[in-house]
Amino acid sequence: MPCTVILGAFWGDEGKGKIISYLALKDKLDFCVRTGSVNAAHTVWREGKRYALHMVPAAFLYEKCRLLVGAGANVHVAKFFEELELTKVNDRMGIDQMASIIEEKHTIQDKTSAVNKGIGTTGWGVGPALEERARRTAKLAKDIPELRSYLANVATEINEGLDAGKKVLLEGTQGFMLSLFYGTYPYVTGRDTGAAAICSEAGVGPTRVDEVLIVYKSFMTRVGAGPMPGEMTKEEAKKRGWFETAAGTGRDRRSAPFDFDLARRNAKINGATQAALTKLDCIFPECRSVQEFEELSEDAKQFVKEVERRTRLPTVLIGTGPEALDIIDRRN
Ligand code: IMP
Ligand code: MG
Repeated sequence: MPCTVILGAFWGDEGKGKIISYLALKDKLDFCVRTGSVNAAHTVWREGKRYALHMVPAAFLYEKCRLLVGAGANVHVAKFFEELELTKVNDRMGIDQMASIIEEKHTIQDKTSAVNKGIGTTGWGVGPALEERARRTAKLAKDIPELRSYLANVATEINEGLDAGKKVLLEGTQGFMLSLFYGTYPYVTGRDTGAAAICSEAGVGPTRVDEVLIVYKSFMTRVGAGPMPGEMTKEEAKKRGWFETAAGTGRDRRSAPFDFDLARRNAKINGATQAALTKLDCIFPECRSVQEFEELSEDAKQFVKEVERRTRLPTVLIGTGPEALDIIDRRN
């Protein structure tokens, strides 16, 4: 797995943070590059402590991993420093000098714009910041004095790392159904969230990628407005134990059963080579914290096999609980 891209299959919140934190510890990742922006929260649990990360890569649990933010990302400076304080990763954190900056004015525009409210954005200001970047008037990381000691050339660093056989993980954010190009436009985020876009934001060419790991959750959730096939009522979601609130904004998440056709379509367009399936314990509670496939219940095994049959992908990682190590690892 020298170079792996991780992306969310649906509307974000599939559990990418958990999968990435597991891979960081297990595979001893050398580099992890975060893309996207502060609108996405990646939840990492370790020894009962919960981290909801908006800027620092989810691989921070492995203490030798170099943590980077790519040139295509958007940096919220205050949130970045808050998370450095929390994770204590100052000595191994880098931000590409060309990453752009979200300013207070963008947050205000996002919260006050009627259009953005109709979409139900997270309100962080990512859309307006991206608009400004497209106009080429955005501030970049290299323009911010407080960021000086973190500036890096991420693309060069990771390509040299790959030349030297290092393990690199490119951390996608949100989900493919929120892609500006392939999602439920206009109810989407301000950028493409697919595997190719993740490579572009980090600065890695397509021929260098070994695995594209698509992360499915065992049911689907969505925050904000826009269509969602099979959506159920909040009462029904609560009855099934699927009701969630957003890690970043605290909003209620809408929910629906796993959609096999959508899962297949999104695997295909992203050229996925592997899948992770998270939160299996939410639909099969008897599977909580199981670490061997053979120890799953028959119903749970059948569900996993159906996901594999319909997506035509091997389900290499299966999440059975929130902690980084609550996982079935079926690689090799
Ligand atoms: P924005 O990305 O804040 O502009 O919001 C656009 C849409 O994407 C809204 O429906 C948000 O709820 C959704 N969204 C953005 N980031 C995330 C995320 O990390 N998880 C889930 N939904 C997100
Ligand atoms: Mg999230």
